[in-house]
Amino acid sequence: MNFSDSEIVASILTGEGFEASNDLLDADIILVNTCSIREHAEDRVRKRLHYFRSLKKKNPGLTIGLLGCMAERTKTALMEEEQLLDLVAGPDSYRHLPGLLAKVDSGQKAIDTILSADETYADINPVRLDTNGVSAFISIMRGCENFCSYCVVPYARGQERSRDPLSVIRESKDIFLQGYREVTLLGQNVNSYHWKDGKEAVNFPLLLERIAVLDRRLRVRFATSHPKDLSPELIRTIAAYPNICRAIHLPVQSGSNLVLDKMNRKYTREEYLEKIKAIRSQIPDCAISTDIITGFCDETEEDHKQTLELMKEVAFDYAFMFKYSERPQTIAADHYNDNVPANVKERRLREIIDLQHELSSASNHRDLGETFEVLIEGTSKRSDKQYFGRNSQNKVLVFPITRQKPGEYVNVKVKRATSATLIGEAI
Ligand code: 5AD
Ligand code: SF4
Repeated sequence: MNFSDSEIVASILTGEGFEASNDLLDADIILVNTCSIREHAEDRVRKRLHYFRSLKKKNPGLTIGLLGCMAERTKTALMEEEQLLDLVAGPDSYRHLPGLLAKVDSGQKAIDTILSADETYADINPVRLDTNGVSAFISIMRGCENFCSYCVVPYARGQERSRDPLSVIRESKDIFLQGYREVTLLGQNVNSYHWKDGKEAVNFPLLLERIAVLDRRLRVRFATSHPKDLSPELIRTIAAYPNICRAIHLPVQSGSNLVLDKMNRKYTREEYLEKIKAIRSQIPDCAISTDIITGFCDETEEDHKQTLELMKEVAFDYAFMFKYSERPQTIAADHYNDNVPANVKERRLREIIDLQHELSSASNHRDLGETFEVLIEGTSKRSDKQYFGRNSQNKVLVFPITRQKPGEYVNVKVKRATSATLIGEAI
């Protein structure tokens, strides 16, 4: 999401005559797009700001701005604390950046952290940054109103709002014509996408379908789904279109009903498992990945065991795993006790990571001997004689270079597997 937001910022500023630089030392303005999801993310931003301080000493004319969630969350606090920042802009203020930069030019500090109920940047054509020319992100909604008790997003990104489907379809068409072959539709909870214009109502499965029919050679992915909103209609839509990728990221967070309830996730372990069953029965080759938080308030050893059991039962292909990190302002910070000791969190996370390592490895070994259609993304970092790309399940495959070019499809047979990569040969 932040990556996609940076592309919107780049578009707004290039439209005003600014130019993006690949060299930090060459830049007149540095804008840091920040994440607040865990304390660790904010710590990294603080460290980066210290480095920028040394750059500013050498070049006092350098403008430094803080963008995104941490800007929204801390407002003027970091500006006062750091005495380094010239500009602070929250995630709904990017249209105002040219004006804010002009204010900095006139010698003042500039700040705008007003959240909006309707800003979706729908009309802004993102400037693709760091692109491989093959896959692109398209933001389809902003904000979140689920208020999971541990999560800072509803406070940092504001109300949920969906983007006009016509603008999403137009952007998808444009990038296809430019040669891109994969779009990932982004939102905090894409399943609750909805748009109503007069008589016409568009929900997420309909939007997905409209993009899938643009061209069979365009792969469509999406992230992230909230399990409570994953509908039978969505599963049917994915099953009906081969170019909607067989990969669903469905964050479970915990395998214990007590913890899920405390997290305010609004589903039970049993309901989650039912959804998995529905996916597997209708899309048998679908990869399923997840997010897990360990050590949430009051989590017992029994709760932790239930998470491990659920992971085994689902056999996730991939997972992002985190220690609980208390975030200011959230329901959990205000009402619950962050009472799982650090060493226990650490040990539980280790057990979760070790188990997932085994599950990912088993998932990859199941693919040995299989043939997948792979979208070539480029040459492998390790060897310029190897291509890498992904299959529909979002697994990375590495294989000797073929006559096809990046952006083209090739069938690859898997010969070897590690827990992270499949190694194969084009056939
Ligand atoms: N502590 C740890 N992990 C968190 N996440 C969100 N908030 C927190 C927090 N306070 C994780 C969730 C979410 C992912 C994006 O980040 O697993 O799905
Ligand atoms: Fe945070 Fe929950 Fe919204 Fe995801 S759904 S962004 S975890 S509040």
